[in-house]
Amino acid sequence: MIEHLLLGQTLQFTGDALADWQAATRHDSAGAVLIRDGRISDVGPAETLRRTYPQAPVTDYGDALICAGFVDAHMHYPQTTMIASWGKRLIDWLNTYTFPEEAKFSDPAYADMIAGRTLDLALAHGTTTLTSFCTIHPASVDAWFQAAAARGMAVVGGKTCMDRNAPDDLRDTAQTAYDDSKGLLERWHGQGRATYAITPRFSPTSTPDQMSALGALWAEHPDCLMQTHLSEQVDEIAWVRDLYPDARDYLDTYEAHGLLGARGLYGHAIHLEPREIDRLADVGAAVIHCPTSNTFIGSGLFDMMGLASAGLRIGLATDTGGGSSFSMLRVMAATYEIGQLRGTPLHPAQLMWLATEGSAQALHVGGQIGHLGTGAMADLCVLDLASTPAIAQRRASADDIWEALFPTLMMGDDRAIRDVWVAGRRVAAG
Ligand code: GUN
Ligand code: ZN
Repeated sequence: MIEHLLLGQTLQFTGDALADWQAATRHDSAGAVLIRDGRISDVGPAETLRRTYPQAPVTDYGDALICAGFVDAHMHYPQTTMIASWGKRLIDWLNTYTFPEEAKFSDPAYADMIAGRTLDLALAHGTTTLTSFCTIHPASVDAWFQAAAARGMAVVGGKTCMDRNAPDDLRDTAQTAYDDSKGLLERWHGQGRATYAITPRFSPTSTPDQMSALGALWAEHPDCLMQTHLSEQVDEIAWVRDLYPDARDYLDTYEAHGLLGARGLYGHAIHLEPREIDRLADVGAAVIHCPTSNTFIGSGLFDMMGLASAGLRIGLATDTGGGSSFSMLRVMAATYEIGQLRGTPLHPAQLMWLATEGSAQALHVGGQIGHLGTGAMADLCVLDLASTPAIAQRRASADDIWEALFPTLMMGDDRAIRDVWVAGRRVAAG
């Protein structure tokens, strides 16, 4: 039995903080977390846990904040090296920057290098789980899951499928997309901490035949996730309308081919029709908010509170490299800013809940990851709430934990990550 007792401030969620953050939040200014064999086995006051587990080695983080590791519910690891590429909107951005970079993943050694680099950058930013699109190359999926296994991380990934409107060297077919995805999910889904997501990139780059093939594959493996993009930009929606003249709306291009379900993850989901919102809510699907990407690529303002009150699951994500940061702190700041523009600013507790519990629930692993509570995996992030002079001087006058935390959410970066634990192993020290 391997035990470790962490002391610090602790932040726990006991319910849906988006609905009622006061009822759902527990903060202890002198708290403790007991890790046993890779899982969290107790959380409580430091004094009590020290007395109960006198044999456990102790790491004392002082007044740093121990919380669940961040869960990034939508990103593209192959876009790590092209993050922050200037001046294009979605379709031109894909053609100019994204596709040439993704073509490089025909080289498995390159895929291995970028997968490892991405996960190390994520850990340095306090993110312990990522959900990634890979490229059309099956070896890019092997690279992703192998790099995560080497670090003990729970990740989601899948082969990106495209059989039209992409360069020759980035196209598969309906049949090879089915066969390769099937082979990969049989190899990886449920292996260690790996979860497979069937991955049609988005409706414009798949023919109806490919969509149907992937819908059939999902029906054969309903415990897998399915990830894609939905209604990100207005021009994209018009293009989808031309490509699928019989579809009632963008979501219908997925729905008609068996690609709408509870385990579906729909990235962006900004410009939704009422029917689309109703259907997503009916089936219990998740939409993933990618705020740093939505401002960077100029996509629009996600309606967080409207969609939450319609009953949708909502996850939070960087969308690297459409998103311009690897940091879920920056994603929380952008979520707050977009909430302000919509007249519905989120409370810091709601932002933290979304970046941990909300994303984990979107991935159907609520309570197992993104959760500071007994039985969850010990994937933890320790936040220094005074990591820069600018943050420290603001925090000095804070009256409560929320005022103490908010400057770090708004102004923090990887310097705020004091430590990270993955499956009960310490992986980074500030
Ligand atoms: N839509 C289709 N592919 C992509 C992508 O790689 N990034 C973003 N942001 N949107 C997409
Ligand atoms: Zn994306």
